[in-house]
Amino acid sequence: LNSRAFSTSSFAQDIQKITVYGSGLMGAGIVQVAAQKGYAVTMVDLDEGSLERGKGIISSSLKRVAKKQFKDDEQKQKEFIEFTFSNIKTNTDSGEGAKDADLIIEAIVENIETKQKLFGFLDKIAPKDAIFASNTSSLPITELAKATDRADRFAGLHFFNPVPQMKLVEVVKSEKTSDETHHALMEFSKKLDKTPVTCKDTPGFIVNRLLVPYLLEAIRLVERGVATSADVDTAMKLGAGMPMGPFELSDFVGLDTLKSIADGWREGGQVDPNLVAKIKTLDDLVSAGNLGRKTGQGFFPY
Ligand code: NAI
Repeated sequence: LNSRAFSTSSFAQDIQKITVYGSGLMGAGIVQVAAQKGYAVTMVDLDEGSLERGKGIISSSLKRVAKKQFKDDEQKQKEFIEFTFSNIKTNTDSGEGAKDADLIIEAIVENIETKQKLFGFLDKIAPKDAIFASNTSSLPITELAKATDRADRFAGLHFFNPVPQMKLVEVVKSEKTSDETHHALMEFSKKLDKTPVTCKDTPGFIVNRLLVPYLLEAIRLVERGVATSADVDTAMKLGAGMPMGPFELSDFVGLDTLKSIADGWREGGQVDPNLVAKIKTLDDLVSAGNLGRKTGQGFFPY
């Protein structure tokens, strides 16, 4: 028996130390779920202010999780929160944070040049066998990996917002991602109590590739005067079993995010342009700054 084949089929590459770049909505969530499970996590952002904001996101989410897990036991809640924070270190020095990582997860701004620059820099500093993963929603993993000399140890690890609640992780395998890397990320996701699915490096992966055209078609349906947005939401909730209707969900995702995904796919040409044709209602809401829940107004007021 070939020992290497044995080890790769049975055991995932040992991941213990994780460094997460970006302490925003997603980065903070990823840091939290990994630290809750006992991983040693370093959270890196550009400045102390951003790191403090990240810690704030983690703190309020952890309180909710602790209350749910240890209902009437305040002591256990406190211990759980302390345990999680004891596993988190923070750093504003990008290089320092990567030096001894087994896995680097990138959750910084959705800009290809900024991400490539970070990955190119980290490639020279991180241990040779460390795995690099990006949480990008819309950028090709293959293009990000090109900034490094470790395309075999590079993949997408796409979490969903809010990370502590959402069970799914899309593990995105580019043509160059090795089976070992893929396997290690699948096992890592399971250790976080998530359910991983495997997907090829294609626009929108699985969830957004289906969800975005659906959300856009809901807006077109209202533009055509078929029904009101409130009735479409009610219909999809009660008739199709969706937890949120498409308008409520679009407001939750952010109308700027929805528009920028649609624009990107249309311009990129890898998705049928009819599915992502321009929509006046959406463009008007975004240019008026009504971006959904986060601005207090989108399709609905908040
Ligand atoms: P965010 O804007 O809340 O956070 C981004 C953070 O990255 C900021 O704190 C910023 O200071 C930091 N940052 C920027 N450049 C950096 C650098 N060079 N080094 C370290 N930190 C840096 O963004 P959000 O929403 O958390 O998204 C992050 C990534 O996750 C994006 O790639 C996005 O596409 C992806 N994503 C977002 C989802 C969402 O629902 N918001 C869902 C799934 C993926």
